[in-house]
Amino acid sequence: MNILEALKTPAFQLPDSYKNMTDSEMEQRVREIKEKFGDRLYIPGHHYQKDEVIQFADTTGDSLQLAQQSAANTKAEFIVFCGVHFMAETADILTQDHQKVILPDMRAGCSMADMADIHQTERAWSKLQLLFGDTILPLTYVNSTAAIKAFCGKNGGATVTSSNAMGMVEWAFTQKERILFLPDQHLGRNTAFDLGISLSDMAVWNPITDELEYEGDISNIKVILWKGHCSVHENFTIHNIEQVRVEYPDMNIIVHPECSREVVALSDYAGSTKYIIDTISKAETGTKWAIGTEMNLVKRIIAQHPDKEIISLNPHMCPCLTMNRIDLPHLLYSLETLEKGETINVISVEKDIAENAILALNRMLERAN
Ligand code: 13P
Ligand code: SF4
Repeated sequence: MNILEALKTPAFQLPDSYKNMTDSEMEQRVREIKEKFGDRLYIPGHHYQKDEVIQFADTTGDSLQLAQQSAANTKAEFIVFCGVHFMAETADILTQDHQKVILPDMRAGCSMADMADIHQTERAWSKLQLLFGDTILPLTYVNSTAAIKAFCGKNGGATVTSSNAMGMVEWAFTQKERILFLPDQHLGRNTAFDLGISLSDMAVWNPITDELEYEGDISNIKVILWKGHCSVHENFTIHNIEQVRVEYPDMNIIVHPECSREVVALSDYAGSTKYIIDTISKAETGTKWAIGTEMNLVKRIIAQHPDKEIISLNPHMCPCLTMNRIDLPHLLYSLETLEKGETINVISVEKDIAENAILALNRMLERAN
């Protein structure tokens, strides 16, 4: 569901009873229901989820790990997905027909995924085919709707995550001369740059004006970047980096590649959520880190590493608001509903979309890492 669809849906009100419960009462109920359901229930949680939710996750991971784990879990009847809408869609596509994927709050979308809708993408594709002929392979970050994944699958392309974007872009160039990278221009630009592609060979597709933004001879273009971004990661700036360099000259700066090219270029390390977690876990005691990623995760990393000095790269950073929609009351409500034999907020991708989207996901999963 995109933001427009969510706005059209009558506002869901969590029953008042949940407002009167204490956290420990809710936690106790979640534990009881998990115990009762056993293997029939599976709760995956993205690293950006709040602690009050992540404590109940059967598995935690970045987008790639959660997709792999969804594909591997063929048992659970109910998958209560603690993450955002596109992740639950991916889980639905990768799981079997008898498994139901539930999103505890349907308002948990992703503003980046909403920046590429299928109509805009089809329009862009027609125009790009006229300009470049059959020389382009579409790749989409998994942070996209199932329809965009299906579009990529149908056109020989694949999904990527921030963990495997390098390998997937390299593979794409064995297939076609150019790539169209949706919907995150920053991940696309940072990845292509790391592979040695010059910024001057990258164009931007503007889905609002339906125009290619590029100055020069278009035959040089190798990468067409969709003009989308993450509204969380765009809040890390060059100014934040300059401040850290002045205040803490011996601090390492590590950022997610959803940050802009300028921010990544000035940082010491850049990589996916899993890369950030692993790098800091392996770092020596006493080392200092400024992290440029989502705040729920940064707070957790800080709590897990009291032996290191860790701060957020942006001291005024907030968590991802849509990830935060999944909270303890919504998790409990979805579980209590299951307990009563009802299912709410089931994420079900239409069959024809799922059939093409799985082509794109499988091309990635076959080459994962
Ligand atoms: P990863 O989990 O691939 O690092 O992506 C981060 C993100 O923004 C998820 O929405
Ligand atoms: Fe979307 Fe960014 Fe939030 Fe991830 S952190 S869910 S990309 S808005």
